[in-house]
Amino acid sequence: MKAKITATASYLPERILTNFDLEKMVDTNDEWIRSRTGIETRHLVKEGEATSDMGTQIALQLLEKSGKDPEEIDLILVATSTPDYLVCSTAALTQDKIGAKNAWGFDIAAACSGFIFAMETASKFIESGRYKNAIVIGADTMSSIIDYTDRDTCVIFGDGGGGVLLESSDDDVGILDSILYIDGSGSRYLNVPAGGSAHPTSKDTVDKRMHFVHQDGKPIFKFAVKNMADVSKQILDQNKLTGDDLKLFIPHQANRRIIDAAAKRCGLPEDKVFINIHKYGNTTAGTIPIALNEAAESGRLEHGDLLLLAAFGGGFTWGSMLIRWGDA
Ligand code: COA
Repeated sequence: MKAKITATASYLPERILTNFDLEKMVDTNDEWIRSRTGIETRHLVKEGEATSDMGTQIALQLLEKSGKDPEEIDLILVATSTPDYLVCSTAALTQDKIGAKNAWGFDIAAACSGFIFAMETASKFIESGRYKNAIVIGADTMSSIIDYTDRDTCVIFGDGGGGVLLESSDDDVGILDSILYIDGSGSRYLNVPAGGSAHPTSKDTVDKRMHFVHQDGKPIFKFAVKNMADVSKQILDQNKLTGDDLKLFIPHQANRRIIDAAAKRCGLPEDKVFINIHKYGNTTAGTIPIALNEAAESGRLEHGDLLLLAAFGGGFTWGSMLIRWGDA
């Protein structure tokens, strides 16, 4: 038995922050941001809007599209680095807001690889035969941990998320394979230093702005290109496939140059690579499900098509997933 995607959804908050808006906030400019990252705009939540609010919108769309009742959902996983609270999972808050009273679930913290990690986890529950309908969400409110005086990070990230409904499949569509990795030695290059047990929040950590994302862009860039390309190639090789067999490659959207370089290393032509980073920036766990929903809604995926997902993120985390598309 396989787990197959039977519905897709995404949610982008209404407020839009353009490169020109950022020019007024930090020492940057539209030309630099576009040429170094490919980003033109990103969406930001309104005051009081949290990750579970986005998760709820996504879950409600999935219920509507699939015609399922909230009571039919038995598992909810939310991949996020920006939960509403440190204690109380965003999955539980989402469960309550949609009234999925027969569901259990939890959050998964794998930064930008979170959605693929959550899909792998949910698929194993479905494949076991014990769970039938799983909602898998990737969503991040990056604006809650971004320092809008730090030009190294504030130009890159945005808020948003997406998700899928996973159900069991007896035919040959669904999640075919995945390869996932973590390497904690990379944690020094991208992290939020304070607010956890290593450095609990204090006046000192706040004064030092340690509750915001800190990143060393260059090593991450190199790591991302190499590992996202290698893990994509690895999954194709182990399934005796080449880029020619794929309908679409949906990579994590962190930087247009990273996507182009990784696709080139895998020998994937531009028309098979899904790119929407110009509109949303890096929404962390949100990028892949947002792209997946756009690809599905725009008719770029048909029954039987082979789809490759690949991501990398803080941790370090990285991975790839091969899917044969069904009828979502
Ligand atoms: N606007 C204008 N100039 C900026 C800038 C900004 N927002 N941010 C940095 N600069 C400057 C730097 O200070 C540097 O100036 P200098 O040459 O006078 O020292 C110059 O631009 C080049 O900086 P550099 O860091 O070499 O740029 P880059 O080509 O490596 O691009 C990133 C920077 C962050 C866009 C790129 O390294 C990157 O995308 N890394 C990966 C980050 C990522 O994906 N994080 C999320 C992981 S999931």
